[in-house]
Amino acid sequence: MKTLIKDGTVVTANDTLRADVLIEDETVRAIGTGLGAQAERVIDASGRYVMPGAVDVHTHMELPFGGTFASDDFATGTAAAAWGGTTTIVDFAVQTFGQSLHQGIEQWHKKAEGKAHIDYGFHVIVREVNEGILKEMDQLVQEGVPSFKLFMAYPGVFMLDDASIFRAMSRTASNGGLIMMHAENGGAIDVLVQRYLAEGKGDPINHGLTRPASMEGEATSRAIALARLADVAVYIVHLSSKDALDAVRAARDDGAPAFAETCPQYLYLSLDDLARPGFEGAKYVCSPPLRPQSHQADLWKGLLQDDLQLVATDHCPFHFKEQKEMGRGDFSKIPNGLPGVEDRFSLIFHGGVHSGRISLNRFVELVATAPAKMFGLYPRKGTIAPGSDADIVIFNPTVERTLSARTHHMNVDYSCYEGMTVRGLPEVVIQRGNVLVEKGAFQGKKGAGQFLRRSPFHGAPLSEPAKVEASV
Ligand code: URP
Ligand code: ZN
Ligand code: ZN
Repeated sequence: MKTLIKDGTVVTANDTLRADVLIEDETVRAIGTGLGAQAERVIDASGRYVMPGAVDVHTHMELPFGGTFASDDFATGTAAAAWGGTTTIVDFAVQTFGQSLHQGIEQWHKKAEGKAHIDYGFHVIVREVNEGILKEMDQLVQEGVPSFKLFMAYPGVFMLDDASIFRAMSRTASNGGLIMMHAENGGAIDVLVQRYLAEGKGDPINHGLTRPASMEGEATSRAIALARLADVAVYIVHLSSKDALDAVRAARDDGAPAFAETCPQYLYLSLDDLARPGFEGAKYVCSPPLRPQSHQADLWKGLLQDDLQLVATDHCPFHFKEQKEMGRGDFSKIPNGLPGVEDRFSLIFHGGVHSGRISLNRFVELVATAPAKMFGLYPRKGTIAPGSDADIVIFNPTVERTLSARTHHMNVDYSCYEGMTVRGLPEVVIQRGNVLVEKGAFQGKKGAGQFLRRSPFHGAPLSEPAKVEASV
């Protein structure tokens, strides 16, 4: 089956060109003009941007947390992702204490198989480090799961000590894996949490006040120092603050391979949201917490200057009713995480491109190309080029729409961005040549998403960007 996307403006991380895109079955065949001779299907993209399907490398479908589970599963969460222009996710499998990493991954395969509407890969959360686990890490790099999330926070649940972190990092120095770090000083934070609760300070705002930005900065510096000692790259997840960004920037300026993502919530939302009256602030509880608004300009600048390499969502939704409500009177019992897998493309286009902060090409790099390169999916994913998977978003940059829980597709009873008007709409979303979203209707198929075996980490992902060749 041949499909022609006609008369659009093709945007990649490197180029913006008026051209048609010819898709043959699941693959992009050519970009250029005069390609339409034998196409069975023609999609008119005039006045639209034709962009790579976005890649979200930080999601938590059905994550067990604080006695409950994230409310999106692979069916609902990947459908919502597609509605928002994301055609690939990388989700976090979780190791159970005393069990192998492989068992955790098997469990995640069961969650995803037969459900996912879009392609997906896995990272794995490592909760203990011993000889067996280190050997498994070697194997997993070869088996297409080359990234490992470690925690410096949540003592007794996820937190690892520095020795374990250093051992795991040293292993990735030889096996081609990449350590992804949740960088917050869990020990100090826990003391503050107990102190605040003892003082009767149980409201959601105290979640933010007990996790100061300085403790994210400290942990980020420590993670980078440990990685430098192990002579290996490190990737900081969900970076939220100027303090942590300063640590990443200093290391990069010094030539160290330190990388980081931020998330839309840290660019748009703030401590003021956690302070909303009543229990409303619970809707905004995530870790690291939302920061004072003054941090946002630095994060946008970090994206512009490549001290932050990409934007992911950390999608981890919990319903307000009955899930977030578990923490009424005790903020430490509010499950941590925000919904966002559907909103990233539009939020970053709106706040980045429409607001004039970043270029169209940098936008594509941040939401599609850089994540694909960083996590071993490029050039199959993250770009539009001959031979790439035909994962494509046809984006109307002029439509204005209002974000709302009434119209979103994520399985969660609120939107963090309720009532916010954004410019731009992913009108047509295509995965491997199949239309998932068109004319406001969902045409995807449950179970059509494929597991992606990813390549090992190859070092700085943005040093040699591939050129899209116009080909006829
Ligand atoms: O609050 C968050 N971020 N929840 C998801 C788990 C994590 O730490 O990424
Ligand atoms: Zn985390
Ligand atoms: Zn996360």
